[in-house]
Amino acid sequence: MKKSTWTKNSFAGLTRALLAVVLSAAVALPVSAGPREQAAQIHNRIAGVPASTDPVNNVLQRMEDAINGTEPSCATYGVTGATCAAYIAMDNVSFYNVTLKNFAAPWTNRDQSVFVPLNDYVATVIGMVRDDIPFNTLLSADLTYVGRPGVVPAAPAANSNDHYAQLESNNVNLRDDLVSAPQSSVQGIPSSATAGVMTSRAASEAFFVAGTNRAMFRFTLMNHMCNDMEQMHDPALSPDRIRQDVSRSPGGDSRLFLNNCIGCHTGMDPLAAAYAYYNWNETTMSLEYTAGIVQPKYFNNDLNFPQGFRTQDDQWENYWRRGQNSYLGFDPGLPGEGNGAKSMGEELGNSQAFASCQVRKVFRSICLRDPEDINDRNAVDAITTTFRQSGYRMRQVFADVAVHCMGQ
Ligand code: HEC
Repeated sequence: MKKSTWTKNSFAGLTRALLAVVLSAAVALPVSAGPREQAAQIHNRIAGVPASTDPVNNVLQRMEDAINGTEPSCATYGVTGATCAAYIAMDNVSFYNVTLKNFAAPWTNRDQSVFVPLNDYVATVIGMVRDDIPFNTLLSADLTYVGRPGVVPAAPAANSNDHYAQLESNNVNLRDDLVSAPQSSVQGIPSSATAGVMTSRAASEAFFVAGTNRAMFRFTLMNHMCNDMEQMHDPALSPDRIRQDVSRSPGGDSRLFLNNCIGCHTGMDPLAAAYAYYNWNETTMSLEYTAGIVQPKYFNNDLNFPQGFRTQDDQWENYWRRGQNSYLGFDPGLPGEGNGAKSMGEELGNSQAFASCQVRKVFRSICLRDPEDINDRNAVDAITTTFRQSGYRMRQVFADVAVHCMGQ
């Protein structure tokens, strides 16, 4: 009895093992995807839902035809082949309401959570992608996106997110019902004080609240240059603009300052000076801009090291153009210094690191993984070059990445 049970079980086990071998071999073999499978993959990744096969729209068929070079509507997109298939997929409203919302939402809060209500930062990203607005202006433009007038009851406001919460809860079609507006008109700050999504209401609330405004810099660096401060550590730069709050002998140990604190603060403090006139006002629940008057938070703990740098105005300077961080590739055509967040946002937005970071984020969103091998890295480099050379259009990036990951 025992023996026969053993035999029976082992036979079943052997069968399962064989089956597993056969299946894993099938999975491991390069599965060749034809144009229809590629079209389906592109659509799933871009829109997050399967392509429609209903006879009226027949999106899947049009995409397959695009890949085969026989889809007439490709002429209207100005692209051909699989790229055209990706543009067809981007017509799906879910690309805007779901894919792009989830793409941008983590950039708008400290926890990097995707589960936040729609806000002006996310809407601006969605609108800029849809309208092919040069994305290198993301951190500098006087631009926001709002719902078409009347589409929800609450008007866009500097002191409330209700407008966007209603766009979301009413499931408003963001592909069709978002319109652009000057951010200055909604935020109630001068146009010259706007700096793209950095001065959006959502970013202000998350990163200009309390603290010393260094958080706005750190999160912008993480979200749009794909680096955290730790990776920028360069103790060789001049410490002359490190603020007074950074102790030069933390815990009585000046070596700690020289080896550790200095590495981040040498580069960050002169850049974060650009935000000297901004604060998130927790009473009015809105962004406050005090032209010409440095916010008191820049003088927090100024007795820690009174000889340290005392912020006089919003003049910033980019020390990372020198030394080990120069690989970020700042634009040699820009001066590397200036006044205020707008010009600092141009400095970041026109760097090589900014462009390749956008491509890597799209890669993760569409390929559902990080770039892995040389093939992926070459693709990221080529897509970044196209992005920079043809007007920083994000839809082109989504299309190029989707084609790279459509299977072959
Ligand atoms: C890895 C980079 C890094 C290093 C190293 C570093 N800092 Fe900072 N520091 C930051 C960032 C980023 C912030 C802004 C944090 C925030 O507000 O979210 C900050 C903020 C501060 C602040 C303001 C705190 C506040 O209340 O907002 C002080 C003071 C400070 N650092 C001192 C130091 C000292 C002293 C050292 C060395 C012991 C040090 N830092 C090392 C990156 C760094």
